[in-house]
Amino acid sequence: MSTIFSSIPTSPQKAKEVESASVDPSQELSTICIADFSHIEGAKTLADANRLIFGFITRGAFYDALQAGTLIVATRYGEVVGFLRFHHRKCDLQTTLYDICVAESERGKGLGQNMITMLIDCCRNCNRATILLKCPTHLAANAFYEKLGFYRIDTLIGKRQKLNVWQLDLTSRGQQ
Ligand SMILES: CC(C)(COP(=O)(O)OP(=O)(O)OC[C@H]1O[C@@H](n2cnc3c(N)ncnc32)[C@H](O)[C@@H]1OP(=O)(O)O)[C@@H](O)C(=O)NCCC(=O)NCCS
Repeated sequence: MSTIFSSIPTSPQKAKEVESASVDPSQELSTICIADFSHIEGAKTLADANRLIFGFITRGAFYDALQAGTLIVATRYGEVVGFLRFHHRKCDLQTTLYDICVAESERGKGLGQNMITMLIDCCRNCNRATILLKCPTHLAANAFYEKLGFYRIDTLIGKRQKLNVWQLDLTSRGQQ
């Protein structure tokens, strides 16, 4: 699959202008972009369809991420088929990946990786040092993070399940 990336926003206001497009062999157009209001219902529907994994993500949580410019979506023919929610921590240079999801029918086509690529570009643009996330140990997604270069730095005993802590180092140290 060939991928075209355009520039990444330096502010939430500019966020909507950012877009990347990928074309798969069947020429179906997929787009990775920072979300706008038209994407909220699609993202919420996708989250609800995956409630067993994410629990209940409120519509308000999506609106908050939208306003902060921290919601990335993948669309196919305008329909939301993936989302990624993140947060730039203010106390340090860590960015937290809250959740990432690709619709079941669209998995294995590079959309998850493309959303992470956009997240990394967003983080580099504002000099973030690390991306950190927690993933229940039983989920197949752990192999996805490992494949994308994240390191498992810890395993925590959560209230309901064990959680792997994955980290991606964005500093020059992490490039060695
Ligand atoms: C995890 C998820 C976002 C991956 O998205 P995706 O679009 O299917 O992943 P991609 O196609 O971009 O895969 C990128 C790479 O990761 C690998 N990968 C993806 N899912 C994998 C899995 N379940 N097991 C092993 N490797 C996997 C792919 O093989 C690919 O490597 P390759 O380029 O060498 O083939 C998606 O499977 C999903 O939404 N899962 C359900 C929600 C979830 O568990 N979210 C994480 C909660 S912590």
